[in-house]
Amino acid sequence: MKYHIITYGCQMNEHESEKIAGILESLGFEASKSKEQADFILFNTCCVRENAEHKTFGNVGALKKLKDENSSLMVAVCGCMMQQQSVAQKLAETFPFVDLIFGTHNIHTLADMIGDCILNKQRVVSIQEGDLSIHEDVPVTRHSWPLASVNIMYGCNNFCTYCIVPYVRGREKSRSAKEIVQEIQGLKEYREIMLLGQNVNSYNGGGVDFAGLLETICAQTDVPRIRFMTSHPKDLSDRLIDVIASQPRICRHIHLPVQSGSSNILAAMNRGYTREQYLELVRKIRKRIPDIALTTDIIVGFPGETDADFADTMSLLQEVKYDSAFTFVYSRRNGTKAAEMENEVGKAVQKERIMKLVALQNTITEQKNKCYEGKTVRVLAEGISTRDQGHVCGRTGSGKMVNFAGNKDMIGKFFDVEITEGKKTTLFGRITQEQG
Ligand code: SAH
Ligand code: SF4
Ligand code: F3S
Repeated sequence: MKYHIITYGCQMNEHESEKIAGILESLGFEASKSKEQADFILFNTCCVRENAEHKTFGNVGALKKLKDENSSLMVAVCGCMMQQQSVAQKLAETFPFVDLIFGTHNIHTLADMIGDCILNKQRVVSIQEGDLSIHEDVPVTRHSWPLASVNIMYGCNNFCTYCIVPYVRGREKSRSAKEIVQEIQGLKEYREIMLLGQNVNSYNGGGVDFAGLLETICAQTDVPRIRFMTSHPKDLSDRLIDVIASQPRICRHIHLPVQSGSSNILAAMNRGYTREQYLELVRKIRKRIPDIALTTDIIVGFPGETDADFADTMSLLQEVKYDSAFTFVYSRRNGTKAAEMENEVGKAVQKERIMKLVALQNTITEQKNKCYEGKTVRVLAEGISTRDQGHVCGRTGSGKMVNFAGNKDMIGKFFDVEITEGKKTTLFGRITQEQG
């Protein structure tokens, strides 16, 4: 029996698909690269923006043909989108051929759900609400070597007014530092660990804070590189800045979503900081860690966003000069506070603003990439370049993608690379030294 998982959404979802794969492989399933050859197709969904939902409905619908051709094919839909009752119901009604629907809180029961599906030859819908406990004994299958994601916490307590995540993921729960360290100790062949949480800065593993967790990981494991995401600006402590500064194995990169450059909009978003406080934090981080790379998320067209508010976002971008930014048009999510706000921004204005914002950030990113020319950076080779088979690609500690001549035997090793060209999204260079 072969399985194929299609994952939408953030790295948290990607990692949960690795757990789903782990459970399926423990049941004897094998991974299949294509939908056509699979006996079990799963969609792990996202609902953070409306287009994520549209995509899922379109792609699940497109499976009907495969199912008609092969009646024993099993189809499951899971993830954040299914955690919204009305959407799960709509999906179940629209696509009667879907065999299994489950949410984000009960992945650990997947084996039983599949058993029920097969034994009773009927659809299983299993979505659990409320705050459930952490399940530590779920197997994980990773196909991401030399990189590995490790969850340090689940859920979110912040209730940014635009965001659906706290409703579909529940309240914040941290794994114990001991469990996290044990997991990382078991990932010896991996060269880089990404610690995941919706807001890692509020990690609390039985009295250990995030700075303490990083210190423990540095002391008790020997993974060469440690990354984390996401850092909420309101909870980034001085102690955390100190720990990053003093531990060279922690990557010089903080993803620090600002969302807006206007204090009015930040208040309406319930972000818990003003423009000035954010800029002060950026100054503090850069003073203590001068080579830090900063990236961000920005939303334009939030309800009530005026031209002046948007101008504040543009000027903040100019001031901070992020290494890169993920930019989004506000998407109304039912059930959130912002969905009740009346002064929505029209589509045309939203479009105009996102285009201006993207153009500005592209210019800044390009300028920053140009600055790398002539410099030598340490890169972890991650894979063969998709564009040129004779090249490998990998990232710097600051998160920049670098492309250089090489072959698959180099994957998983570190190299010093002299940058010859800094382009829009990628740096190009040549190896000066292998670091192993
Ligand atoms: N916990 C993380 C990631 C949340 S989702 C954080 O707080 O940064 C990733 C990004 O999606 C958010 O940072 C935000 O910029 C964007 N986003 C979330 N809800 C959105 C919505 N309703 N419309 C548009 N963008 C949204
Ligand atoms: Fe959503 Fe805000 Fe939580 Fe991030 S911190 S997941 S944006 S509510
Ligand atoms: Fe992630 Fe989307 Fe869920 S961004 S937490 S998969 S709603």
